[in-house]
Amino acid sequence: MTPWPPALPAKVHPTVRAFLDTPGLATATLTRFGSPAHLVFPQVYSDNLLRLRAVLERRLPGHRLCYAHKVNQSRAFVRTAAREGIAIDVASPHELAGAFAAGFDPPRIEVTGPKGEAFLRDLVDRGVTINVDNLWELGRIAELAAPGAEVPVLLRLSGFDAGQVSRFGMPQTHVEQAFDLLSARRGRVAFLGFAFHLDSGDLGERVRAIDSCLRLIEKAYERGLTPSVLDIGGGFRQVFTADAERFDAYVLALRESLLGRGEPMTWGSNTFGYHVAGGAVHGTPVFHKYANTVPADRMLADLLDAPLERHGGRTVAQVTGDNLLELWLEPGKALVDHAGITVATVEFVKEVADGSVLVHVDLSRDAVTPADQEVMVDPILLPRAGDGHAAGPVGVYLAGRLCLERDLITNHKVWLPTRPQPGDTVVFPNTAAYHMDLSAATASMHPLLAKFAVTRRTDGFRIVPDAEYEPGFPVAPRAANSATSPVRSVEAS
Ligand SMILES: Cc1ncc(COP(=O)(O)O)c(C=O)c1O
Repeated sequence: MTPWPPALPAKVHPTVRAFLDTPGLATATLTRFGSPAHLVFPQVYSDNLLRLRAVLERRLPGHRLCYAHKVNQSRAFVRTAAREGIAIDVASPHELAGAFAAGFDPPRIEVTGPKGEAFLRDLVDRGVTINVDNLWELGRIAELAAPGAEVPVLLRLSGFDAGQVSRFGMPQTHVEQAFDLLSARRGRVAFLGFAFHLDSGDLGERVRAIDSCLRLIEKAYERGLTPSVLDIGGGFRQVFTADAERFDAYVLALRESLLGRGEPMTWGSNTFGYHVAGGAVHGTPVFHKYANTVPADRMLADLLDAPLERHGGRTVAQVTGDNLLELWLEPGKALVDHAGITVATVEFVKEVADGSVLVHVDLSRDAVTPADQEVMVDPILLPRAGDGHAAGPVGVYLAGRLCLERDLITNHKVWLPTRPQPGDTVVFPNTAAYHMDLSAATASMHPLLAKFAVTRRTDGFRIVPDAEYEPGFPVAPRAANSATSPVRSVEAS
C-alpha cells in the first residue's frame, strides 16, 4: 500500500543530522546570527573528497581533482580545497581572486568557461591553465603570449554524439585548425591536452567523449604535439533522496493529481515538465535529478572501469595509465553534496481561496532553488519548543517573501508533521550545490543570505562567518562553562 502522506525524505549526512538533532541549536543559530542563513559544513566536503580520492587512487597513478568553485561562493569550501591539496577550477575573475586569496598557486588553478578579452589579457601571464572554449580564445592567447611564455592550455571539446549541441567548447571539426595554431605558436602556448564537461549522468555518453578525446590525442602526437592531460570535467551526481521508494510513490501520486485524481498536489497550473494529454501524463519531469540513487564515487568508479572497445576492452583507467595520461576532473556538486543547509523562519501561515495552506518563510525561492528548478526534497520543520502545534500531517505549499505570485518555494505540496506556527524554524536540506548561490538575487532590496561555516567538535559545534573559516583549528574541548547549552555551543568568532 502507498504510504500516507506522500513524502520526499532528504538524505542527511550524519554531521548535519547531529547538528539538527541537537535540541534548539538550529533555532539558536538564527537567533545569534540572524534569519535566514546558509550553513556550510566543510567536514562533509572533506568526506566527499575522501571518497572520490579513494576511487581514483585505487585505479590511476596520474590524476588531478579541480574543485569547480562555481557550485558555491563559500570561502570555507575554497579554503578546505586548498588545505586538502587539490586544484581548483575557476570561471570568473572573482573566483580567480578567491582562489589566490585562499592560497592556491597558479599551477593548481584551471580557468574554465567562456572568457572575454579583458579576462584573457589578465590570464596569459599568470601561469594558470586556461581551458580554452573556442578558436577565438586560442587565437587571442597565442597573440597575447610572450615568446617563451608557455601558457598552459587545454582545448575544450563538445558535440561528441550526433545531435548533441552545447554552447560550450569547440566542435571536433575545429581541432585541426587548433593544432595548426598550437604548432605555429610552440613556446608561447603549451598544449596540455583535451577537456570536456557533460551535464549528463549517462555513462555511455561520457565513455564516448573519452574515446573521442583519446583519438584526438593520437592525432595530436601525429602532428608532433605532446598532450598529457585528459580533463573529463564534472557532472558527477548527488543523492538527495533518503528513500527512493517513497520518492517514486510521491511522483506517482503527483502524476495522478495532474490527472485530477486524489488530492491536488500542485500549485497553480504547474506540470513540472510533464505533458498531460489523452488521460495520461507523458515525458520526463524537470526534477528528475532528485530521484538519483547512484553516488558520485560509484559513478566515477563505473566510468573508470568501463571498457573501451577501440582499445581491446581495456578500461578507461587502464588506457589512461598505459598512455601515461593524467586524468583531470572538475567536480562541483559531488564535493558539496550534503555539505550545506539553508535555515529560515516561519513568518505566518494562511489559507487561500482554494483551501490551500501557505507557509510563509523569510526567504525567497531563489535562495534555495538552482535556475528555478523545482526542488523535490522535503524541508524539515523544527517547531518552537513549548508551543501547542496542531497535530498533522498537514499538506502545505511554502511561500517566499517577495511580492511576486511566482515566489513559491515549493510548487508541489509538502506534508509537514504538524501545522507550523510563526517563529518555527524550517531547514532546507542539501542546498550547497548551486541551490544557494546560482540564482540568488537582491529583489525588493532584501540582502543576500549570510553564510556560516559549521564544524563539529568533540564538545559541540562551532559556527563562524563563512569568510572567517580557517580549516584545521584544534578540536580540543573548550572551557566547561561554554558547552553546557545548545545556545552556548553556537560559538561566534
Ligand atoms: C566546465 C565545468 N566544469 C565543471 C563543472 C561542475 O559541474 P558539476 O557541479 O556538475 O560537477 C561545470 C558546471 O557547470 C562546468 O561548466
